[in-house]
Amino acid sequence: MKVSGVKGFHDILPPESARWEALEEKARSVLRSYNFAEIRLPVLERTELFARSLGEDTDIVAKEMYTFQDRDGTSLALRPEGTASIVRAYLEGGLAASAGVVKLFYLGPMFRRERPQKGRLRQFHQLGVELIGRDDPASDAEVVTLLEDLLRAAGARAFRLEINSVGDSACRPLYREALRKYAVGVRDRLCTDCQSRIERNPMRLLDCKKEPCRLALAEAPSIETYLCGDCRAHFERVLTLLEEARASVSVNPRLVRGLDYYTRTAFEALAPGLGAQNAVGGGGRYDGLVARFGGPPKPAIGFAVGLERLVMIAEAAEEQRSGPQAAVIALVEEAEGSALALARRLRCAGVVCEVEGAGGSLKSRMRRADRGGATFALIIGEDELREGRATVRDMRGKRDYSKALRLEANGEELRRRLEELAHG
Ligand code: HAM
Repeated sequence: MKVSGVKGFHDILPPESARWEALEEKARSVLRSYNFAEIRLPVLERTELFARSLGEDTDIVAKEMYTFQDRDGTSLALRPEGTASIVRAYLEGGLAASAGVVKLFYLGPMFRRERPQKGRLRQFHQLGVELIGRDDPASDAEVVTLLEDLLRAAGARAFRLEINSVGDSACRPLYREALRKYAVGVRDRLCTDCQSRIERNPMRLLDCKKEPCRLALAEAPSIETYLCGDCRAHFERVLTLLEEARASVSVNPRLVRGLDYYTRTAFEALAPGLGAQNAVGGGGRYDGLVARFGGPPKPAIGFAVGLERLVMIAEAAEEQRSGPQAAVIALVEEAEGSALALARRLRCAGVVCEVEGAGGSLKSRMRRADRGGATFALIIGEDELREGRATVRDMRGKRDYSKALRLEANGEELRRRLEELAHG
């Protein structure tokens, strides 16, 4: 009986998986250069972790989480994002005790029961970055430049970065109230979702993509005029620093984020070609979150990039084959052990290697080796076995070098020999 996969949960098959690997490697090298260290987090958490951090009224908590009761009655959730888990791990792992700044990144699957469409899945992957322990504008600017550098390194070209300040607990309530009042006045022109947002979460009104709502809210008050002095000064300094650091960022005073924990700086990377979705990454400051979970008052900022979306917009990098690739072919059963041993030594020396067992015709095995991308076939038959050497066939020039490789040579010598042959 055929069993199909779950809707919105995708496999990543080769050769697609090789693109993911290449992209992750590039991202890791940028993250290393910014001195961020990897943290590996579980995919299951207590449901309350997300309810208390993302906000009960957010779409994610209200309708998109995969939650279930564990056998002991505890309510658990597949993580819909990584920031809440980071804060939990930061506190539980005792990282808060150090006076210093903590710079972490994570990479892995997240789960949201949204309606699947192009660029939107129920299991998707995020690369996230969190910097905990700094609230100076230079740290905001650095995190935004990291996002830009990551996207570029991954091969994304046509994206733009937008930034805004969403204020803090001093000024945002005033703005929310102004927005709520305005929305009440245009209530009849709003979609039903937006109508229910008016009281629950008025900031999210600005996020609605429906044309009638956008028109109705075109004249809505802007947060710019409501920022308190501290938030305004912080934001202005962030913008100055970003300009001096040559980041290409534009201010969008209507940018709000879908999660409740944000304070001050919020930003998004937007790109065409993602279907109805246009955010490849997003993040912002969350200065109150560590304290909300009982920790010391530690400010923090971070972002996450959606890897499915990044793969969609990243230009495929030139496939890089460093050095020769080999297929070891045993012509007779007695040669299979030597073929395995030879391949092991080549692999340890960094040569990508396939082993073809004794079954089937030589011709069909050579064809397979060719299709697999081998630059050399290393053939071991009875004669070769007796003399302790392998015949090397150059797959491009179709040239044979009879008994050119010593079967007992060490990996380095084998690799050097293949490189010599490759260069003629
Ligand atoms: P987010 O904006 O909810 O932020 O998600 C970040 C990115 O994840 C999005 O820009 C998008 O590329 C990707 N993404 C989200 N949902 C889906 C989906 N259903 N299918 C495919 N991709 C998706 C956060 O999650 C915050 N934790 C980011 C953050 C870190 N803020 C501070 N630190």
